[in-house]
Amino acid sequence: MSFDHFYYKGVRFAKGMYTEESLNHAENEFEVFDDDIYIVTYPKSGTNWMIEIVNLIKHKGDVTKSAVLASQLRSPWYEAVRFHEYIYKMDPPRIITSHLPHHIFAKSYFKSKAKIIYTMRNPRDVIVSMFHFTKILSFFTPPENFQSFMEDFIQGKTLYGSWFDHIKGWMQMKDDKRFFLITYEELLQDHRGIVVGLCKFLGQELDDAQIDSVVKHSTFRSMKENPMSNWSQMPPDIIDQSKGCLMRKGISGDWKNHFTVAQSEYFDKIYQEKMKDFNMSFFWEQSS
Ligand code: A3P
Repeated sequence: MSFDHFYYKGVRFAKGMYTEESLNHAENEFEVFDDDIYIVTYPKSGTNWMIEIVNLIKHKGDVTKSAVLASQLRSPWYEAVRFHEYIYKMDPPRIITSHLPHHIFAKSYFKSKAKIIYTMRNPRDVIVSMFHFTKILSFFTPPENFQSFMEDFIQGKTLYGSWFDHIKGWMQMKDDKRFFLITYEELLQDHRGIVVGLCKFLGQELDDAQIDSVVKHSTFRSMKENPMSNWSQMPPDIIDQSKGCLMRKGISGDWKNHFTVAQSEYFDKIYQEKMKDFNMSFFWEQSS
């Protein structure tokens, strides 16, 4: 996979979408408000799903209020150049998205009371989802093949650098009360239960019908059909809609349809090496 890039603090960023200035601003100058809610992920881990859920919770399940704007305008990526000014015009409480690793995240966050929801996903499915996604990103040269893409992923040469470093960095916050840690797969298994947990974390009281509505409007099918959630309104210089879509399959375990046995063994070996000194285990370590 190739794209015009530069490095900021050891992490690879796409030129045009980010600049040295936008990242320096995001890290050192951006003002976090106490009532901000941050949706943080490594790309392709369920970011847009969480955006939809949290916006629906904010509006007590009312989709006519929660989805009046396309998702990237409701919950912009604060580090991206195109949202630099826009983010300051948002009504509070702001629901803001970020793919930044922990060491580049807004310094002012750590002095605030703002909350973070961090969603993780089996890295094998992240690889598959990103492999397909790079084909629709207009400014990317698609990967030669799946093997070469996997190599890029392992070496942190994809979007937002290394998945391994992203996870390790953010896990430093796992015991913080302002940090809600969840996996894409838990969301698939217990969508409603996680919505209830999120309401509690965010201090939002929703009745049963409102919770049902949050769940109903954030299913894969609802989001795929909703032009405010499915990225069909993304500008063509970012997404080429003729080549695919954001809402691709929405399942867990699609990696089994893409990895050969050799690739699976290879990835397991690399995974163990990279995570060997990391004092935390994840369900996907048993499921391979
Ligand atoms: P697939 O490519 O595996 O289908 P992100 O939002 O971080 O870019 O992640 C995109 C992935 O999340 C895509 O995975 C997409 O289909 C999936 N996704 C988005 N909304 C979802 C939902 N409501 N339910 C299940 N999966 C969802």
